[in-house]
Amino acid sequence: MRLGLVVAPVFFLIVAAAGAFLLTTTGQAPPTQPIAFSHLVHANEKQIACTYCHQGVAKSAVAGIPSVEKCMGCHRTVAVDSPEVRKVAAYWERKEPIAWARLAYLPDHVYFSHQPHIQAGKECQTCHGSPSLPNGSFGRLQPGMDWCLSCHRRDGASIDCSTCHK
Ligand code: HEC
Ligand code: HEC
Ligand code: HEC
Ligand code: HEC
Ligand code: HEC
Repeated sequence: MRLGLVVAPVFFLIVAAAGAFLLTTTGQAPPTQPIAFSHLVHANEKQIACTYCHQGVAKSAVAGIPSVEKCMGCHRTVAVDSPEVRKVAAYWERKEPIAWARLAYLPDHVYFSHQPHIQAGKECQTCHGSPSLPNGSFGRLQPGMDWCLSCHRRDGASIDCSTCHK
């Protein structure tokens, strides 16, 4: 617990230095996921790269959620006795995808793509920060128009209505 108190402010300093533009979440609990997957364990503690699991990010609009096969690449041997990991293995044996609840709530009339942002050199943490919930989730992603616009103004990116509204 004490460690958390020491580490958190340091993390925020790093984010601030990188020009943070944190996507604020609503504070509402996200829907319960089928597996208790934690970003705090995988990304923060075990230092697995975001793009190792979210491979779509540099080349398409959506980052994508990793397949069961990707999970099993490690969990055939890692934490095999954990009840949650056993559930993952059961999905794998049934050849059934895990039905992760979608946590992105951008309305349909708004166009967002990761690709131009990654190409412009933005880090994941600039917008997503660190997992905000104790279970290691980033929470609901619900960007308001002001959030997009204020960074576009700062960075000299397009603020034409048609950039984001197709
Ligand atoms: C080991 C694989 C793995 C790694 C590494 C990983 N993720 Fe994820 N990510 C997932 C899975 C599985 C989900 C779906 C479950 C969930 O929402 O937590 C997800 C969901 C998300 C979401 C959706 C919204 C939400 O509230 O959770 C965001 C945003 C996200 N990841 C960002 C990141 C960032 C940023 C990093 C690096 C700091 C990262 N992820 C590293 C597997 C991973
Ligand atoms: C690159 C390797 C790697 C990948 C890929 C990976 N994990 Fe993990 N996972 C780990 C490690 C390491 C731990 C920590 C194990 C420990 O502390 O004993 C862990 C822990 C877990 C735990 C907690 C186990 C427990 O009860 O302590 C769950 C659940 C889990 N992973 C699910 C997933 C899911 C679902 C995916 C795919 C979306 C995934 N993992 C992908 C390496 C990975
Ligand atoms: C410019 C800000 C920004 C950056 C930089 C960014 N994201 Fe996102 N991300 C968003 C927004 C906004 C959403 C919600 C999009 C939606 O609702 O369709 C999102 C959604 C997601 C999601 C869930 C939906 C999906 O697309 O699969 C994941 C996972 C994710 N981001 C991972 C990442 C990772 C990994 C990186 C770094 C490689 C990253 N993001 C960089 C703004 C950003
Ligand atoms: C952290 C700063 C930042 C945030 C936050 C941000 N953007 Fe961007 N956006 C950029 C930059 C920088 C570019 C690249 C501009 C360029 O290449 O000329 C860009 C490019 C784009 C493009 C492509 C524009 C084109 O001309 O092809 C779209 C679409 C876009 N952003 C939509 C959004 C939406 C929607 C949001 C909010 C959900 C958002 N952005 C949030 C910085 C940001
Ligand atoms: C950089 C991206 C971006 C640009 C440029 C942009 N918008 Fe938006 N707009 C958004 C996002 C994101 C939302 C969704 C906000 C939400 O769900 O709260 C939105 C929502 C809206 C809405 C609906 C509000 C609602 O209640 O759902 C209207 C109307 C709108 N925008 C008009 C405009 C007009 C007019 C322009 C040009 C002057 C413009 N937008 C430029 C990102 C953008």
